[in-house]
Amino acid sequence: MKFFIDTANLKEIKEAYELGVLDGVTTNPSLMAKEGITGKDNIMSHYKAICDIVDGDVSAEVVSVDFEGMIREGEELVEIDDKIVVKIPMIKEGVKALKYFSQKGIRTNCTLIFSAGQALLAAKAGATYVSPFIGRLDDISTDGIGLIEQIITIYRNYGFETQVLAASVRHPMHIIQCAEVGADVMTGPLSAMEQLLKHPLTDIGLEKFLADYAKGNS
Ligand code: E4P
Repeated sequence: MKFFIDTANLKEIKEAYELGVLDGVTTNPSLMAKEGITGKDNIMSHYKAICDIVDGDVSAEVVSVDFEGMIREGEELVEIDDKIVVKIPMIKEGVKALKYFSQKGIRTNCTLIFSAGQALLAAKAGATYVSPFIGRLDDISTDGIGLIEQIITIYRNYGFETQVLAASVRHPMHIIQCAEVGADVMTGPLSAMEQLLKHPLTDIGLEKFLADYAKGNS
């Protein structure tokens, strides 16, 4: 399973990259705003800065909601770097844009997926990735991981090549559950990735190994 980090924070992206397990980055307009990145030029150069750090796909989201606007924005975004994947919302105009980009060989990530039907449409339109938001579904007492499983089954039944990118990951158990059901990618915060490495018995064991070494070498 690929690990993407879901942030526009350059420090966190560097940290995850240096850990050696990072396969890409996802961003969205809210994450950009959280970092204080506003205005088209600043946003475009921030995408470039992200691309310069990582070796992998970087999702950059369009903010137009009409077909022409999405196409115009997407074509500008892919000019920034070969790593850019155009992130398109799951709306009617977005489905048309997915088809357009897929015919042009431009990679896409269909975002704001909350149902299997939406994922099926995105795959039929040729999306490279679909992003079902599991945390936001869990927030409303709906089974986010169950949706990932359902989409994987549908894609396998018909051999769709669209990759399932589990988004809105909130904690390490989400990551493990995504891996169990076979998500192609998960995107989440650095904290969730770092929590994967923690275990109290690891800390206790290491403390003892180091203490025993110190005894024998003092
Ligand atoms: C997906 O690419 C989105 O950026 C993201 O995962 C949304 O997550 P949130 O629900 O934590 O905002």
